[in-house]
Amino acid sequence: MTELATTYLGLDVSSPIVASSSPLTGTMDGLRALVDAGVGAVVLPSLFEEQIVHESRDLVTMLEETASFNPEASDGYFPELDDYNTGPDRYLDHLAEAVRELDVPVIASLNGVSIGGWLRYARQLADAGASAIECNVYRLAVDVDDQPWEVEDDLVNLVGEVAETVDVPVAVKLSPYFTALANLARRLEDAGAAGLVLFNRFYQPDIDVDTRAVVPSLVLSSPHEQLLPLRWTAVLHGRVGTSLAITTGVHDAEGVAKALLAGADVAMVASAVLRHGPSLVASMLDGLQTWMDEHDYDSVDQLRGSASQAAVSDPDAFVRANYLQTLTSWSTPIPA
Ligand SMILES: Cc1cc2nc3c(=O)[nH]c(=O)nc-3n(C[C@H](O)[C@H](O)[C@H](O)COP(=O)(O)O)c2cc1C
Repeated sequence: MTELATTYLGLDVSSPIVASSSPLTGTMDGLRALVDAGVGAVVLPSLFEEQIVHESRDLVTMLEETASFNPEASDGYFPELDDYNTGPDRYLDHLAEAVRELDVPVIASLNGVSIGGWLRYARQLADAGASAIECNVYRLAVDVDDQPWEVEDDLVNLVGEVAETVDVPVAVKLSPYFTALANLARRLEDAGAAGLVLFNRFYQPDIDVDTRAVVPSLVLSSPHEQLLPLRWTAVLHGRVGTSLAITTGVHDAEGVAKALLAGADVAMVASAVLRHGPSLVASMLDGLQTWMDEHDYDSVDQLRGSASQAAVSDPDAFVRANYLQTLTSWSTPIPA
């Protein structure tokens, strides 16, 4: 029998599929369904500092509005958003209930603004029983005076301070838009990060050409989007000692197998379970088990990293060599 149990952030997890932050992890019903289907851990929706400060419901309104004009959402699994991470007390209650009721690690997610806010709320999340804290770092360096090294230094210092403040593991959900990601990953590890979550999926605002208004756009991911975190996981595996998690584009058993082969400790799911429901996780785990049997893998730990950059016969395939080859491989006839 193949062994699906493994570890993530030093925590024991019964399977390598983790439910990432989404409206599904914002309700106890959603959480229970995900755990029943076999996720090894859950990440709650982020606690947003500015929401607490301004008691704003803007994010919820945005999510609700986008959910209603997203054609996938009407027959999908978007739960009611009334309870979606509003205010610290409700968040802390939800976290405490999840910790009490679920027999999997419950990871809280925090998106702070001020350093004081990051530290204060991180402490509250740890005190409420979170098994770990995921820092959802969402900063766009749009100021032309923002220096790249300052952006990185700020992030590294922040993670270092959060890690020093709490006695639970701290993961960092990173943006892919850093110039020297491998170096940053190592600096984050040195600062105390226990895990890197690749990657934060930014929602890009759209422009309505009739009204010329900027409109929010929330489109669920497609499997093709997994290739970006897949490459970076393969590159970072063995180069950093932190746990690695892939989030974005994991939609089926094959996506989970690829994540593990590249070197991820776990594969995270949001879009796929929002689209097809939490029970999808059970069929993903069945498919993973079958695939592992067919390829003679006894355990997730045994297969992890077998196709990382360090393990494959052509390590260059993950970097430049692949670029030219891919561009010149286009052979589809072009319509006149
Ligand atoms: C409706 C919705 C709400 C989300 N809320 C959060 C959040 O609160 N915090 C966070 O870090 N990520 C959030 N995410 C991002 C997901 O956790 C995940 O990283 C992203 O959707 C990519 O994974 P996927 O391809 O499996 O969807 C949200 C995603 C969706 C679709």
